[in-house]
Amino acid sequence: MQVIKNIKQMSSLSDKWRQEGKKIAFVPTMGYFHNGHLSLMRKGRLLGDVLVVSIFINPIQFGPKEDFKEYPRNFERDSALAQKEKVDVVFVPDEREMYPPGYQTFVEVTKLTQHLCGLSRPGHFKGVATVVAKLFNIVKPHFALFGLKDYQQYLVIKKMVEDLNFDVQIIGCPTVRESDGLAMSSRNEYLLPEQRGAALSLYKSLKMAQDLFETGEHNAKKIKAEIINFIKTFPYTQIDYVSICDPETLEEIDEIKDKALMALAVRVGKARLIDNLILEVRK
Ligand code: PAJ
Repeated sequence: MQVIKNIKQMSSLSDKWRQEGKKIAFVPTMGYFHNGHLSLMRKGRLLGDVLVVSIFINPIQFGPKEDFKEYPRNFERDSALAQKEKVDVVFVPDEREMYPPGYQTFVEVTKLTQHLCGLSRPGHFKGVATVVAKLFNIVKPHFALFGLKDYQQYLVIKKMVEDLNFDVQIIGCPTVRESDGLAMSSRNEYLLPEQRGAALSLYKSLKMAQDLFETGEHNAKKIKAEIINFIKTFPYTQIDYVSICDPETLEEIDEIKDKALMALAVRVGKARLIDNLILEVRK
């Protein structure tokens, strides 16, 4: 496994691979790997002849009051895990090379970002779309894998690729959970032992919404009200949003017909956690 830090070097290697007719699979990450990241690598390994994983804690997707400085890092552990997954290249670009002085170009997906996390994290998806566009131009992948845990991010990237004619196939991968249901996240690291139970309120809420839906409650307002009350019974929690929306446009819906996305963001102590589930009429 190669560790590449230089943009030109990564780009030249991808050119060479493409000339040899190799298919490049790519998993962009911010590191501090858990099984969610590893599941994307495994899928990428199956799809591509070569597999690139990037680790870059992208400063421009963090708000001024967010956790950029304390975001967990452990490169030694990450590279050992990547090696185990038979990753060919870990690409770890330098911040100064990604955003040199005078940098001024950004990618903005305008509508999908006006919902859910886009409202509470202004500028976040502009930072995500910009870095992913840059990484795509450097790594030149045929396939790029994204987790559906970050459902809005997945939609935003798919839209960017469609609108800007990127020649890459975006693949969404299912959310990987702890045995009790908590969605894996690098930010779970922030949870204190006494907050771990409250962190499970997200998954429990999704299950509760699913039960309500499956037993005939299709009124989104009523489901959301129940969920909000339920989350409030857990200590340390502060709700950012509870949404039931269209899984393609992310617009709020009143009455669920065939399908809806239930998405929520809740602060538990220092950790801002998100999770989601598709509510669907079973055929
Ligand atoms: P990061 O949070 O490191 O996540 C990297 C990828 O892993 C994303 O596609 C994310 O959706 C996926 N992922 C995270 N937790 C997961 C889980 N429990 N199950 C399945 N997949 C999971 O998302 C980012 O980094 C950044 O925004 C990035 C796209 C790299 C741009 O900077």
